[in-house]
Amino acid sequence: MKIKLLSGALGAEISGIDLKDSSKENYETINNLLLEHKVIFFRNQDITQEEQIALAENWGSLEHHAYVKGLDKHPEIIRIIKTKEEKNQWGENWHTDVSYNIKPTKAVILKSIKIPPVGGDTCFSNMELAWETLDENIKERIKDKKAIHSSLGAEFFIDNYKGMTGHEKRNYDEYSNEHPIVRTHPETGKKILYVNWTYTKQIIGLEKKESDEILKKIFEHQARLDLTCRFNWTENAVAMWDNRSVLHYAIADFYPGRGLGHERIMDRIAIEGDQPH
Ligand SMILES: [Fe+2]
Repeated sequence: MKIKLLSGALGAEISGIDLKDSSKENYETINNLLLEHKVIFFRNQDITQEEQIALAENWGSLEHHAYVKGLDKHPEIIRIIKTKEEKNQWGENWHTDVSYNIKPTKAVILKSIKIPPVGGDTCFSNMELAWETLDENIKERIKDKKAIHSSLGAEFFIDNYKGMTGHEKRNYDEYSNEHPIVRTHPETGKKILYVNWTYTKQIIGLEKKESDEILKKIFEHQARLDLTCRFNWTENAVAMWDNRSVLHYAIADFYPGRGLGHERIMDRIAIEGDQPH
């Protein structure tokens, strides 16, 4: 096995591991890599949808997304599609997946199907480091507080991304839950800064103005480049991230004359997580 670190903050590209191997030892090796590096990548993985599902099931039950329709054959797989002429793509801002749920996603396994010649890298940011390096005054203000995470706006994604499909019966419900701003990782015991630009709306117990000011500072801090890594996709690559301890950002840099004019297609499977504490 070879491990190539992607940045000083997080992320590793792994070679010499067979993702089709569903043994307990292989699961433990991959999970240890995941906990250590927080996001891991494997290139040239010619795995089928069934094999991707079998891999994901090692981590627990699979999620069904509230808004996005899965594949007919495998509803637990969401196909993320950016059509040729689209500049934008799903996931194009800092977030953790479905943090508006009471039990947000534990981990995601994303496989690239079609990748443009340029553009569409994914960035990840390490929220353990974000907590450690956060301004001490802000830490004091927020350390025992909760924040509201809301899906408000997420239901309209199908209007924004024409290659994506919502559920047949359109879901307009808003999902809203409170989570601790600093959560403890259930496996490593590490503290994690658990708010995100896309879904976190307000710190509970503070006036809206003060909450907005603090959240703005935190969101800027979380986007510091020295907390991040960036993955340049190739086709048949698999990414797996610990959705509890990282933020991610799918860069929509499909500008005319460069990235525009090409499809980008990914198959995504998400594993159910615990309630943050
Ligand atoms: Fe995402």
